[in-house]
Amino acid sequence: METKVWRVDPKSPDPKAISEAAEIIRKGGLVAFPTETVYGLGANALDETAVRKIFTAKERPAWDPLIVHICDLTMLDWIVEDVPEKFSELASRFMPGPLTVVMRKKPIVPDAVTAGLPTVAVRMPNHPVALALIEAAGVPIAAPSANRFGRPSPTTAEHVLHDLAGRIDGILDAGPTQVGVESTVIDLTKTPPVILRPGGVSKERLEEILGEVLVLSALPSNVEAGLPSPGMMPRHYAPSVPVILANGSASDLAKVVERLREQGYTPNQIGVMMPEGWLVDEKGLVLFRWGKWGNWEEMAQRLFEGLRWLERQGVSVIVAPLPPPIGLGLAIRDRLTKAASTNSATNCQGNPR
Ligand code: TXA
Ligand code: MG
Repeated sequence: METKVWRVDPKSPDPKAISEAAEIIRKGGLVAFPTETVYGLGANALDETAVRKIFTAKERPAWDPLIVHICDLTMLDWIVEDVPEKFSELASRFMPGPLTVVMRKKPIVPDAVTAGLPTVAVRMPNHPVALALIEAAGVPIAAPSANRFGRPSPTTAEHVLHDLAGRIDGILDAGPTQVGVESTVIDLTKTPPVILRPGGVSKERLEEILGEVLVLSALPSNVEAGLPSPGMMPRHYAPSVPVILANGSASDLAKVVERLREQGYTPNQIGVMMPEGWLVDEKGLVLFRWGKWGNWEEMAQRLFEGLRWLERQGVSVIVAPLPPPIGLGLAIRDRLTKAASTNSATNCQGNPR
C-alpha cells in the first residue's frame, strides 16, 4: 500500500488532514501520528481487526499489549472499570502528559489490545495533533510506538517511514517530538503503585502525589513465563549494531573507546553518544553531539535520534555513557540498557558482544 504523508503544523494542524486521517482510523486503517513523547501507530482501539493490523505492520508479538490513547476523561469511562481513587490527582497533574496508567479494563476493550490481560493501559497525549485526531475519530486510539518491533522508537516522521513505509495507510508529520522517550507506565492496580516502564514523568514527580512508588527493574529469569509488563523484555530499542555502555564519566567513556581500538576497531567504525564538553580524544570517531551532561531532558529528547543517526553513518559499534537514575536519567538508563542487552546475558561494560 502507499503511505500517505500529511505535513501539518504541530500547534494548529490543518482540519482537512485531521479529518482524512480520522476517517481512515474509523474505517479500520492505520495512521501514525506525533505525540509529545514519540510517534505512535494508531488504530481504532475498539476494533479488534484494526488492532491486529498494528501487530502485523510492526511485526510485534501478540503478547505485548498496547496503550489506549484518549482525548478527554469521558472516554475513560468507556474502557476502565473501577477508576482507582489515586487516579484523579494523577490525571489533574499529568493528563494530558507523558504518563500511562494501568487500570482494570471493561469488556468493550478487545483482548487484542490488552494481550488478554484484565487491565488496560491508558494515556492522554499532550500534543495538539494527537488530541485532534482522537477527537475527530471519535474513538479511543490504540497505539504503540511507530517503529518495527525491537528498534529504537521514532521521534520524527522520517524514522517512522524508514521502518513502516508501505505497511501503513498514512502518517501525520508534525516534525520532531519534544520528550523523546516514551511515557512512564504506572500500574495503579498494585499497592504501592509500580512503575512498569520509566519515562517522560519522573519517579520523583509521581512520588509527590502517590507517596511510595516501586520501580520494576528486576526481570524474572524466565522471560517467556510472563513478564509483569509484557513489553519489558531485556532486548529492545536497539539499533542494528551493538551498543556498548560506559559508566557516566568522560574518563570511563575514553577507556571503553580505547579498549575497542585495541580490539581492532578503526575510529570511523566507532560511533559515540558524546556529551557536550567531555574531553575524549575524538580523532576520527563518529560523534553524535548528544547534549549537556546533566540536562536529562535534552539528552532524552535526542537519545533515539542519536542511535538512529549513528546507525545511518555505518558504524560497527555504538558507545554510550549511562546517566545516573535521577529524573529522566532513569528512563535514558532503561532504554540504553535494553538497547545494549544481548538477551542472554547482561552486557559487560566495555566488552563488545
Ligand atoms: O509514549 C508512549 O507511551 C508511546 C506513545 C505512542 O504514546 N507509546 C508506547 O507504546 O511507547 P509501546 O507499545 O511501545 O509501549 C507500551 C508499553 C509496553 O511496555 C507494554 O507492555 C505496556 O506499555 N503495557 C500496555 N498495556 C499494559 C497492561 N495492560 N499492563 C501492563 N503493561 C502494559
Ligand atoms: Mg515501543
